[in-house]
Amino acid sequence: MTIAIPDDLEAILADILRRLGRAAQDRKAAMHAPVVGTIAADGSPALRVMVLRAFDPAAARLRFHSDARAAKVAQIGDAAPISVLCYDPGAKLQFRLTGTARIEYDSPVADQAWQNATLFARRCYLADPAPGSLSDAPVSGLTADIAGRVPDDEDEVAPGRVNFALLLADINRIEWLFLAHTGHRRALFERYADGRWYGQWMVP
Ligand SMILES: Cc1cc2nc3c(=O)[nH]c(=O)nc-3n(C[C@H](O)[C@H](O)[C@H](O)COP(=O)(O)O)c2cc1C
Repeated sequence: MTIAIPDDLEAILADILRRLGRAAQDRKAAMHAPVVGTIAADGSPALRVMVLRAFDPAAARLRFHSDARAAKVAQIGDAAPISVLCYDPGAKLQFRLTGTARIEYDSPVADQAWQNATLFARRCYLADPAPGSLSDAPVSGLTADIAGRVPDDEDEVAPGRVNFALLLADINRIEWLFLAHTGHRRALFERYADGRWYGQWMVP
């Protein structure tokens, strides 16, 4: 069987942007939960899986949600380098995205994202003490009255709003890798300040 090997940089970039858009919308998409890399205070790499909530192809911006008290939020602050790794085994594709991230707490976009989240998702932000705190016992972080059920209404999850933050990653570099028996393909796309992308082939 012959496998169609992508050979057009423009078409590859369009495919990347389309796949990221779909990954944000489709919970079953392989790239729905990429690995997000930051740099810890001691300089070591810190990786974790996060659900991709939105992708804006024009701005090349990825949106994730996090507890405001999480380690990654302190690591990122107003601006920090970020790396996002997406892998789709079925499509045999790996995207390595890099750029600059920032945290947003109080903004119309954050308010909208909070409102759009399910009560069940918003319940996570009620954790006390903060996520990442050490505990003497196995715990969910939620109080017993709410741990085992879906919250009744908005009022019940409202106290979690102060703990809800957006992680916005502006991507300026995409490294694309396509695996094929007949020979892999690899390309690099860099985004200029004016929003145009420049693509180049690389040796896999
Ligand atoms: C499938 C999956 C999805 C996850 N989605 C998120 C997410 O959307 N946001 C988030 O903050 N953590 C998410 N996590 C938890 C993170 O991987 C991580 O454990 C947590 O955010 C703490 O990371 P930090 O201490 O580096 O901030 C997810 C974990 C898994 C396994």
